[in-house]
Amino acid sequence: MFIEKEQLLQGTSEKLQQARDYVESKKDEILSLKERNQFHHMPEVGWMNDPNGFSVYQGEYHLFYQYFPYDVKWGPMHWGHVKSRDFIKWEYLPVAMAPDQEYETGGCFSGSALEVDGKHVLMYTGHTNPNPDDESWVRQVQCLAVGDGVNYHKYVNNPVIKTEEMPEHSSLTDFRDPKLWVKDGVYYCVLGSKSDENSARVLLYKSVDLVHWTYVGIVGESNHEFGYMWECPDLFHLDGQDVLIMSPQGVPVEEFRHKNTNTTVYCLGELNYETAHFERRVMEEIDYGLDFYAPQTTESLDGRRIMIAWMQSWHQNMPTDKYGWVTSMTIPRELSIKGDVMYQWPVREIEKYRSGHIGHESVIFEGSKTLAGVKGRHLDLEMVIDFKEAKYFEIKVMKGEDQETNIVYDVDRHVLSFDRRQSRSGIDGLNYREMPVPLVDGKLSLRLLMDTYSVELFAQEGAHTMTSTVYSDLCAEGIEFIADRTVEMTVHKWELNV
Ligand code: FRU
Repeated sequence: MFIEKEQLLQGTSEKLQQARDYVESKKDEILSLKERNQFHHMPEVGWMNDPNGFSVYQGEYHLFYQYFPYDVKWGPMHWGHVKSRDFIKWEYLPVAMAPDQEYETGGCFSGSALEVDGKHVLMYTGHTNPNPDDESWVRQVQCLAVGDGVNYHKYVNNPVIKTEEMPEHSSLTDFRDPKLWVKDGVYYCVLGSKSDENSARVLLYKSVDLVHWTYVGIVGESNHEFGYMWECPDLFHLDGQDVLIMSPQGVPVEEFRHKNTNTTVYCLGELNYETAHFERRVMEEIDYGLDFYAPQTTESLDGRRIMIAWMQSWHQNMPTDKYGWVTSMTIPRELSIKGDVMYQWPVREIEKYRSGHIGHESVIFEGSKTLAGVKGRHLDLEMVIDFKEAKYFEIKVMKGEDQETNIVYDVDRHVLSFDRRQSRSGIDGLNYREMPVPLVDGKLSLRLLMDTYSVELFAQEGAHTMTSTVYSDLCAEGIEFIADRTVEMTVHKWELNV
């Protein structure tokens, strides 16, 4: 390992200890609430945003996250920490980092992790904001911490990438979210940044020892057309392609796309490691739901590329604040590339937690239909709909006396929509989105993962996804199918309990 023990700050700072003690004192009460998701990761208490440091360390999956335990709103960022053997059941670990150094007084912002010679290396952004009334004072620098899976120690010579190491005409205030990987013995990281004229870009750096970094070039830039800042970039190789994912801010709405205040996209193409140029063939929104942001990926022990995201949108009220916790992560998803499309599918490990299978094969109906045993709030539902003569097909989920959540397929427009306007969800702002989904042989296949407060939709084997939170009443658990004319439908339902 390139960093010796003597080059790491020792001990546990007062700030970190304080956060750990606080979580310890609150967690039992909040973890026992029924008002929590069952199989999605959530913070024990307080606020969470982006997934960070999603990685394998010593044969287990680790996930860190932007964390402010003390309140149900964003505050100076700590790194929360969990680990898992199967991506589903997460074990809470002590808070990993607190903003306790002078280069990060505003927070330890997003970053990533890698196992190096038996050590767990975190690379993250130190954020300072000495004058909260004037954003131009903000500075962001890249830092390292090294740990053993529980305790992490910051590198004494942090930061390892300073603002002076940005290319000419860069904004000094936005330079963050390093995603680290290793290729042929060389370490690389991509970073979100922007030009001094407020146009987003992603930068590539490389290093042989994680400590000394060289700027390689610009991977991609917005040229004032696709937003002012690209947050949380990630770059990996999958199925013969290089894939760049990122979370842009300020992207103009384009028909069905980019309706959330901050969007997420994937780009398929080829990265030139010498120049940083990314030859882009495809760019598409990753998920058309109401709540999906800041995705990050890792490689599983058996070589699958797994993505997890924050199941939340910025700038929205969060109805679980009254319970002392806010926000969840999505279900981790296996990625694959077929043609020009990045497919997403819930990690296969979730299937271990299925029980109570009920199947209804080739049900032909018109009008309204309920199916025996098909209801509930913690479900894995797989269905295939053959539209025959129907032009309108709807699934009402989380249906109660005075509320329902509507998933509709419009056969003429080839559009799937998700609507929580009747959910009594209590969310102000955007509550409806549409996604184009072409039929395959006249059919729509849908998988729906429903947890206490979320619905994740995977259409056509995961070619199209929509992820949204729904904070309806827990007793609303009915499911009803509606078709304007004859349809033939097969439905398999499992309970999901973790
Ligand atoms: C994305 C983001 C990151 C930043 C972090 C701060 O949601 O804005 O760019 O590092 O959140 O919490």
